[in-house]
Amino acid sequence: MQLHLLDLLPAGTAAIPIRAIDQANWDNVTAALTPVQRAYAGTTGFTPKAGRVCLLPSEDGRLERVLFGLGDTKAAAHDSFVAGRLVALLPEGRYRFEESGLDLADAALAWLMSSYRFDRYKKAAAALPVLVAPESIDAEAVLRIARAVAAGRDLVNTPSNGLGPAEIEAAARALAERFGAAINVTSGEELEQEFPMVHAVGKASTRPPRLIDLTWGPADAPRVTLVGKGVVFDTGGLDIKPSSGMLLMKKDMGGAAAALSAAEMVMGSGLKLRLRLIIPAVENAIAGNAFRPGDILTARSGLTVEIGNTDAEGRLILADALSLAEAEKPDLIIDFATLTGAARTALGPDLPAFFTEDDALASAVETAGREAIDPVWRLPLHAPYASLLDSKVADLNNVSGGPFAGAITAALFLRRFAPNTKRHVHFDLYGWNPSTKPGRPEGGEVQTARLVHQLLKTLYPAD
Ligand code: BES
Ligand code: MN
Ligand code: ZN
Repeated sequence: MQLHLLDLLPAGTAAIPIRAIDQANWDNVTAALTPVQRAYAGTTGFTPKAGRVCLLPSEDGRLERVLFGLGDTKAAAHDSFVAGRLVALLPEGRYRFEESGLDLADAALAWLMSSYRFDRYKKAAAALPVLVAPESIDAEAVLRIARAVAAGRDLVNTPSNGLGPAEIEAAARALAERFGAAINVTSGEELEQEFPMVHAVGKASTRPPRLIDLTWGPADAPRVTLVGKGVVFDTGGLDIKPSSGMLLMKKDMGGAAAALSAAEMVMGSGLKLRLRLIIPAVENAIAGNAFRPGDILTARSGLTVEIGNTDAEGRLILADALSLAEAEKPDLIIDFATLTGAARTALGPDLPAFFTEDDALASAVETAGREAIDPVWRLPLHAPYASLLDSKVADLNNVSGGPFAGAITAALFLRRFAPNTKRHVHFDLYGWNPSTKPGRPEGGEVQTARLVHQLLKTLYPAD
C-alpha cells in the first residue's frame, strides 16, 4: 500500500512559497515582486493562465518563490482542483501556499489526490514535491479524505488476479478492525440459500462469491446503508464481451471501492449515524456451471428473473443486496455501481449518473457534489420504461430487448428490489480516469465517495 506517501508536512515547516494568481490580481502581484523577479516573469512569458507556473530564482539562483496561474476563477470551466497540477510541474522540495484567493483546503486535497501513485507492481520513478499543511485548514480532515480515495483507487487499479472476492472481503475486514465495526460474510451453501442471485452470478469462478455486511455506529442512530457492486472481473459471462469491452473490466468493482472509500471517510470523521456497508463480491466468469441466457433465477425477495443477458450481472447481485438493505427500513440507501455502458454514453467518464425518486434528496446530492468537487448528473426514473423489463415467463427480465435508455432501465430494475425505500440514491459510475487531470490521475477512481461523505456530513453532522 502507498498510504505512507500521502502526507502533509506540519504547518509552519520552512518551505518555498507558492503564490496563486487569478487574472484579476495579477497586477498587484507583479507590483510586489523584486525588479529581478518581475523581469524574469516577463522574460519567461509568464501569464496567470490556469495551471501555468513561474519558478522565480533568488539572486544566487535558488528557487525562491513560485507563481501559479489560476486563470479566470469565475469561468464555468474553471477546475477547482487546478492546484493538483503543481505536483507534476514543481521540482522535488517543500512548498507552502501563501494566502490568496485560492481555497486552500481544496488545493491541498487536489495536491494529495494528484500525488497518488499505483506502485504495487512498478515503483514510482521520481520523488514528488511535498506540501506544508496550510494554517487555515483542517489538515487531518483533508488527509482522511485523500487517504480513503487512495485506498479505493488501489482496489480499482489492482488487476483481478491480485484482487478477487476474498481480497475485497479482506479490505472490508481491515476497515472493520480499524473502526471497531461488526462484519458478517455469507458464502457457500448459505449464500445460495440467502442470496441466490449473488451465488448464481459468482458460482462459475474458481474464487467463491460472497456477501459482505459491515455495521458500524450506535444501533439507535439514523440508519444509512451503502451498497457497492463488487464484480472483480466481468467477462460478460456466457454472453461474453469482445476483447475491447473486457480490457478494463478489473474496474467492475468500482462501486464497491467507492462504497468502502465513503465508509472509511464517514467512520473516520465520526458522523452521528449507524452505517451499514453491503458488498456482493463475485467474479462474472465462464465455466460449465455458469448461469445461462434463458435461465430463470429466484431472487432473495422471491421475484423471478429471466436472464436475457448474462452481462447484466451487476443488477442481479445488487438486487439481492438491496433486499437485505431494505428489510431493516433504513433512513437512506445509497448504491454505487459500474452498471451500464449507457450511462457512459450519455454523460461520459467524468460524470456519474444518479437516480432517486426524492426531489429534495436529489437536490442535496447535487449540492454535496458541488461542495466536494465530485460532480454528478441526475437521470430520470421514468416509470413507464419499467415495462421494457417485462418477461413472458418470469416476474421480470434482467435486460430490456431494445437499445433505448439502458441506464434508466437498469435503475428501474434495482428499484423493484427496494420498492419501499423512497430515500434511495443509485449511482451509475465509470470508476476510471481515462487521462490525467488535476487531482485525477489516469487509472482507477472512486467517484461519488467524497460526495456521499459530504452529503452525510450535512444530513447527520458530528457534534
Ligand atoms: N460492467 C458493465 C457495465 C460497464 C461497461 C460499465 C463498460 C462501464 C464500462 C455491466 O455489467 C454490463 O456489462 N452492462 C451491460 C448491460 C447490457 C447487457 C444490458 C452494458 O452496459 O452493455
Ligand atoms: Mn456485465
Ligand atoms: Zn459488470
